[in-house]
Amino acid sequence: MSFTIALNFEDGVTRFVDCGPDDTVVNAAYRQGINIPMDCREGACATCKCRVESGKYSLGDYIDDALSKEEAGAGYALACQMRPESDCVVLVPTQSTACNTKPESFVAQIEDVKRLSDSTFSLVLRGDDLRRLDYLPGQYANLQVPGEAEQHRAYSFSSMDAARTKVSFLIRNVPGGLMSGFLRERAKVGESIRLTGPIGSFYIRAIQRPVLMLAGGTGLAPFLAMLEKIAANGGSKYPIHLIYGVNTDRDVVETDRLDALAQRIDKFSYAICVVDANSEHPKKGYVTHHIEPTHLNEGEVDIYLCGPPPMVDAVAQHLRDVDIKSASFHFEKFAPSLS
Ligand code: FES
Repeated sequence: MSFTIALNFEDGVTRFVDCGPDDTVVNAAYRQGINIPMDCREGACATCKCRVESGKYSLGDYIDDALSKEEAGAGYALACQMRPESDCVVLVPTQSTACNTKPESFVAQIEDVKRLSDSTFSLVLRGDDLRRLDYLPGQYANLQVPGEAEQHRAYSFSSMDAARTKVSFLIRNVPGGLMSGFLRERAKVGESIRLTGPIGSFYIRAIQRPVLMLAGGTGLAPFLAMLEKIAANGGSKYPIHLIYGVNTDRDVVETDRLDALAQRIDKFSYAICVVDANSEHPKKGYVTHHIEPTHLNEGEVDIYLCGPPPMVDAVAQHLRDVDIKSASFHFEKFAPSLS
């Protein structure tokens, strides 16, 4: 039996290693080519101190100088002593390159390209190479634009199938955009695409309170991946509400998937809001216009936001205006590449 340990580095790179219950995280990582900083290997120097963001584990043997009670209580552990008792997410306080690692690269083939709306493509990639891939739901990969050797674009995973050979993405149709142009004009089923990842600190944490998800446009993609994971894990004890904002009615996509997720996750609900005043949707305006006091639960809420920079700024301002400091606020800002 072994557990999956996600090592998340300061630069957003995540590598996954297998670690048995009798093994330490440092040893398991080292065998798999990742050198977490360490010195004594005896729980004395604190060089390997990491923060465990989720999962169960034993702390092992160490001296108080290396790890205080307060630090242990706050989720810190010494990776040279820590033994997992479940899958874990471990934050390693250094760059991936300092640990002799980097994001992995995969090659997969286009299975499907669909124009979901004027503004959004769905891209599905399939390939056996993807069996090596894992990601924390919410993270992204860099996709190489075929025919443009050095050009990459970052897209959040929106799903991975159970067989782990297929991943999907939502891609914004940017006029003049390299990836948009490729998908619109040249993409062929079976064509290979190289992707590198997973990357990013925007991923779902253990759910310990109500969750508010705010998506702008194709910023919906990481939430689809998060909700798939929540559904696969049996749902949530706490309410999860998604507000999905778009510019026009034509931009609304993936409502079938959202409806299916609402069926599978009892506590999940979602609302769509549309900026266009002529929209047929009842909720008009920006997502900040539709954040209700119940969604903020007097601050006892985890907020996840994925959208363009003005949206992130507007939500941060809204929280200041209503004088709410949320328990946590995770965001991913994206700006379309215009070439
Ligand atoms: Fe010294 Fe882990 S390497 S405490």
